[in-house]
Amino acid sequence: MSGTDDGRMTALIAKLDAVLGPGGLLTARSDTDAYCTDWRNLSPGRTPAVLRPADTDAVAACVRLCVEAGVPLVPQGGNTSMVVGATPDNSDGEVVLSLSRLNRIRSLDPLDMTLAIEAGVTLKAAQDAAAAADCLLPLSISSEGSAQIGGVLATNAGGNNTIRYGNARELVLGVEAVLPDGSVFNGLRRLRKDNTGYALRQLLVGSEGTLGIITAAVLQLSPRPRQLEVALCAVETPEAALELFGRFRREDPTAVQAFEFMSGTGLDLVLALIPGATLPLEQRAPHYVLVELASGRRDGTLRGLLEDVLGAALEDGTVGDAVIAESEAQRQSLWRLREEHSEAQKRAGASVKNDVSVPVSRVPELIRLATGACETLIPGIRPAPFGHLGDGNIHFNLVQPPGMDPAAFLARDHEIMDTVGAVVRALDGSFSAEHGVGRLKPYMMPDWRGGAELAAMRRIKQAFDPRNLFNPGRVLPAEDMPAGP
Ligand code: MLT
Ligand code: ZN
Repeated sequence: MSGTDDGRMTALIAKLDAVLGPGGLLTARSDTDAYCTDWRNLSPGRTPAVLRPADTDAVAACVRLCVEAGVPLVPQGGNTSMVVGATPDNSDGEVVLSLSRLNRIRSLDPLDMTLAIEAGVTLKAAQDAAAAADCLLPLSISSEGSAQIGGVLATNAGGNNTIRYGNARELVLGVEAVLPDGSVFNGLRRLRKDNTGYALRQLLVGSEGTLGIITAAVLQLSPRPRQLEVALCAVETPEAALELFGRFRREDPTAVQAFEFMSGTGLDLVLALIPGATLPLEQRAPHYVLVELASGRRDGTLRGLLEDVLGAALEDGTVGDAVIAESEAQRQSLWRLREEHSEAQKRAGASVKNDVSVPVSRVPELIRLATGACETLIPGIRPAPFGHLGDGNIHFNLVQPPGMDPAAFLARDHEIMDTVGAVVRALDGSFSAEHGVGRLKPYMMPDWRGGAELAAMRRIKQAFDPRNLFNPGRVLPAEDMPAGP
């Protein structure tokens, strides 16, 4: 059904309005536009209505009405998807269901170390709630100020601390979700052990809203580290970055909380973005590493570990220069150099993102081979790889050549993604490590996840959502879509 249908949409909207009450339904273009524009502004869409239910029962009521009318639903949290997973297409027939009014913290138990929380709470607010109880919610991503728990779980977000604490999936004990038949799956258990049949919560986590709409979850918290140490290091080669990582891991396998890689190109873009920012090192380098160590003890041994490893690396030339944060403010400003990468790349023109993963040991090959292949494909292209070296997840992003028409660059996105993809595949990697598949990358699924795997995914989708009304066209390609672009 499209927005210009025979009146069925009008009738549906009237019913939804009655269910949602004041402030719960938006239909004016001036109100709905923000919900139709993805963070990267790659694919502006349209919607006849944005639904803003305030609790789980209202979500279920909306789902029942939309499904009865055969209208597709696009769940949306903080709208920070990098793969156009949470905004409607431009048919004007997909209704957006925003979870942002489900924003209550239901309970926090510091002894169990569990946080029961609704889908619309931002990740930052959830971290703050945990910190107020002297606990740590260890998920940390650059968009945490806007990203909401529902979307973080629906995409199985990873981020900076995966190396020590795992991805979202490892942190979820329970999930509450509305399924495509309008029923509520109440799996909000907070048990560390629970072997009672299929792990439905894990199926919903990472399903990008195609199997159910997550309305609340129970997250596992951790003890807060008592000491953190952060250093920014300049390295000549990706191999040196990997070598440094190996040394920290050998010295203390549990201390590394984040090990982030940045290219010189990417860091220059960040320095140009932040007013007054300068490189806190003597000289520019081809690559940089941000390392964060954490410890549950306050005895100074962590600083000793950092200084010992960096001292030896400076001496033998593995690291060219390094700076250690001496205060919390310095720690945050070093992190800002890493966290502003996406924003800086957005300002530098069009970019094509490849959120890829390879075995950690193969990261240097990935960077070298993919850089060479992309520079051959489009002379002047600016590779700006960065990301989570410690878990093998590199954002192999490519910024358009200066002066090139952004649309002409983006028109070649499949060529670029497939060029990087060929390298990743040769290194036994994945084309999407933590951003998901969304609407941008389903075309890659037959090639990468074909055969039995894709067929099983289709059967699961069919079992949960036989009418294909939950986030259709995301994750799974249309049946007749050929492999490749
Ligand atoms: C990040 O780690 O900052 C985001 O996942 C990356 C991106 O913009 O590609
Ligand atoms: Zn990332």
